[in-house]
Amino acid sequence: MNKEVIPTNGETVEVSAHKDIFSKCAAFNEPDQVRALGMYPYFRSIESTIGNQVVCEGRRKIMIGSNNYLGLAQDERVIEAAVEATRKYGSGCTGSRFLNGNIRLHEELEEELAKFLQRESVLLFSTGFFANQGALDALMEEGDSILCDRENHASILDGCRISAGEIIPFSHNNWEALRRRLARLPKESGKLLIVDGVFSMSGDIIALPEMMKVAKEYGCRVYVDEAHSLGILGKNGEGAVHHYGLNQETDLVMGTFSKSLGSMGGFVAGPRYVIDYLKHKARCFIFTASLAPAVTGGVLKALQLMRKEPERQAALWKNTRKMHEGFKAAGFNIGTTQTPIVPLLIGSEMKAFQFVQKLYEAGIFATPAVYPAVRYGESIVRTSYMATHTDEELDCVLETCGRLGKELGIFKDAAYTGQGKRKATGGYDLKLQDESGTETLRENA
Ligand SMILES: Cc1ncc(COP(=O)(O)O)c(C=O)c1O
Repeated sequence: MNKEVIPTNGETVEVSAHKDIFSKCAAFNEPDQVRALGMYPYFRSIESTIGNQVVCEGRRKIMIGSNNYLGLAQDERVIEAAVEATRKYGSGCTGSRFLNGNIRLHEELEEELAKFLQRESVLLFSTGFFANQGALDALMEEGDSILCDRENHASILDGCRISAGEIIPFSHNNWEALRRRLARLPKESGKLLIVDGVFSMSGDIIALPEMMKVAKEYGCRVYVDEAHSLGILGKNGEGAVHHYGLNQETDLVMGTFSKSLGSMGGFVAGPRYVIDYLKHKARCFIFTASLAPAVTGGVLKALQLMRKEPERQAALWKNTRKMHEGFKAAGFNIGTTQTPIVPLLIGSEMKAFQFVQKLYEAGIFATPAVYPAVRYGESIVRTSYMATHTDEELDCVLETCGRLGKELGIFKDAAYTGQGKRKATGGYDLKLQDESGTETLRENA
């Protein structure tokens, strides 16, 4: 074979005349470039977790990058329930629920969730990602249409991709755009509207009543992803559809245990005949091992505590209001958030990385979100708050963000324009200014 040797990534790699599927990996050096600048923000190693703080490189950091909204991941009673379940069933189920991996605890959790959400039936999945993929893949057939908000989560987009249905995106939270798309579809096309209850990056709440009204006019089923609304919205944390009093009108809801319930795993809830269909058709459910006993036992306990201790939700909202007001007063642009997800709108990728690095060095663990998690040119530092954050911790976050924001010129020259565009290349933008070189802040929107 005709081999040549090329230097890539500081290493020597052999390539042949044939296309090598690994060549893109050898050429992939963006993380190294960001590491060289001392700003690489990913895969930070957490040595231990102490309440709302984590220890990294031997030093405590206040966590503002977690989805543990109710602080239940560290609750002793949840941990105890996980240990108890492990003792009873072992460390794993070692198989699909379809066959050997169905334990009574899975069924108890499904029954308790169905009661809590006032739904006929619930099906657990091993992750929330799988719940969206599995449901969309099983339900949508050739010729069907999936009406999908442009800011929906990646698991929904990937679910649309693997399903036989056609994805029809519409602009974020815009029911007139939804109506225009639906009006063009033939009656023979099965239709599903799928939206996040709370959008994971912007923190917006879905305009569900308006969306539902349009969907119903066109015979379109409605599916709401409650990943970030469970535990946050609704009287007892039941989610966005309960918040709007629209539980009976929506067809399916999906949720995850990786956020308010402090663990991992997901579910879909809806009419019994649909859930039974998913149970027998969703490949992400059938061809994977079931939720581990520790996870299932811990989530069941967390769900019970969430219902018994509504003061957690009240504390979360108190902290949320404090952070919205505090960031706005400090001059940050926090976009249109209505929830504990509080994005600091930055614009340039490198400036978001730089800000996160400075925060980390000052004792705050925050995370950036850059393309493709957000539109290109609309990088953010995504912060999120917990019921258990203390006033002292939150004051420290506000003071530190304000001080470093000024130092880095986040207020004066952030490139955030709200004019997201497609990215031309795969890499990060290793510069702090946008193309015009005149980063201008959107007026404190
Ligand atoms: C809106 C939304 N849906 C689904 C998921 C997937 O959930 P999981 O982490 O359980 O896979 C996420 C996770 O970030 C999410 O934000």
